[in-house]
Amino acid sequence: MEIIITKNKTTMNNFYLPLMSDNIDKEDVNALIDFLSQDQIPKLTNGPKVVEFENKWGEWLGTKYNLMVNSGASANELTMLALNYIHGNGEIIIPPLTWISDISSVIFSGFKPVFCDINLKNFSFDIEQLKQAITPNTKAIFLTHVLGINGLTDELLQLCKEKNILLIEDVCESHGTTFKGQKVGSIGFASNFSFYFAHHMSTIEGGMICTNDEHFYQVCRALRSHGMTREITNEDFKHKIIQENPDLNPDFIFLHPAHNFRSTELNAVIGLSQIKKLDSNNIHRVNNFKYFMERLDSNKYHTDIELEGQCNYAFIVVLKENSFEKRNNVESTLKEKGIEFRRGLSGGGNQLRQPYFKKNYNINYDNFKNVDHIHNFSWYIGNYPTLEQEKINTLINILNNI
Ligand SMILES: Cc1ncc(COP(=O)(O)O)c(C=O)c1O
Repeated sequence: MEIIITKNKTTMNNFYLPLMSDNIDKEDVNALIDFLSQDQIPKLTNGPKVVEFENKWGEWLGTKYNLMVNSGASANELTMLALNYIHGNGEIIIPPLTWISDISSVIFSGFKPVFCDINLKNFSFDIEQLKQAITPNTKAIFLTHVLGINGLTDELLQLCKEKNILLIEDVCESHGTTFKGQKVGSIGFASNFSFYFAHHMSTIEGGMICTNDEHFYQVCRALRSHGMTREITNEDFKHKIIQENPDLNPDFIFLHPAHNFRSTELNAVIGLSQIKKLDSNNIHRVNNFKYFMERLDSNKYHTDIELEGQCNYAFIVVLKENSFEKRNNVESTLKEKGIEFRRGLSGGGNQLRQPYFKKNYNINYDNFKNVDHIHNFSWYIGNYPTLEQEKINTLINILNNI
């Protein structure tokens, strides 16, 4: 068997499938060089380019108010801090299949996290458990659209409406995913996006909070910059706070304990270049994913995932059987063949099994059987726009022959 070196990886049979490839390209780098090569060096901290990118993003997503931050995790935390400022303490319902920042943001901002298992069709909430989890203290449902799969249903939206509960969408892994033709992230009360390197589009690091609610947006503006009231652009709201605090210098009124979540202009310049390619890149991703799922062996893997509206940067592989022997076999084969993978889908599987959680909470894992299946018996593999069909065929053959 021939062993070769590709892009600092040693693989067999000249095959290497990375988790991500070609995300930031020459065009993006040139946009950055042009920006920096101006005669007069432009402002480099949060400024007009950030605003331009926020506006472009709003046009793309269809949301009125959009606020760029320095990561998806910051978007999560800022959202939860703003909710806590507006609505006070209470409970947030959250899935155990998500990124750690969704959970830490709930905890750091003073809310109590309440967990609800997922379903294996769209990896969103088990709707019956969700109904049970709602109490008079529920302030919001914090949903994660897992790896480009739409997590919304009419029943879930109806439940939020009936119970008057805010829906927050984490779309960090699902830029371009739709529900009934509408982009997710524009449907709930607010949404969070990440522009980390590995996602559908990148600003190297970066994130966005999106909403149609002006007051929430204004609070987020202040909390993005240390909680400073002077960041608020609604004069009535700003004036009210200044009047309530006559002993303070209006330049330094801190609304709520917060951090510095601002982006730099450089990240926004890359975002403006990247967003031009987002839709065309996503067409390739959607087609690759559909092609892959249609050919994956349904006797071995879950292929009855709800694909309507999917837009994925990763192929999802879920074993049907609860077999650790088969799991080990899949992992050793993928490694041997030069295919990068991550076990557990979003965030590595069941967050309730992580030390930061086990240390502080007692958990009955019997209530979380579906997320435990994903934790132990699922993987994601890179799906990027320049991926050749031949490579997808090779991947399918490898998986189907295990
Ligand atoms: C669902 C989800 N939420 C939040 C984040 C955090 O985003 P970031 O890495 O930009 O901080 C991620 C990261 O991948 C994610 O997958």
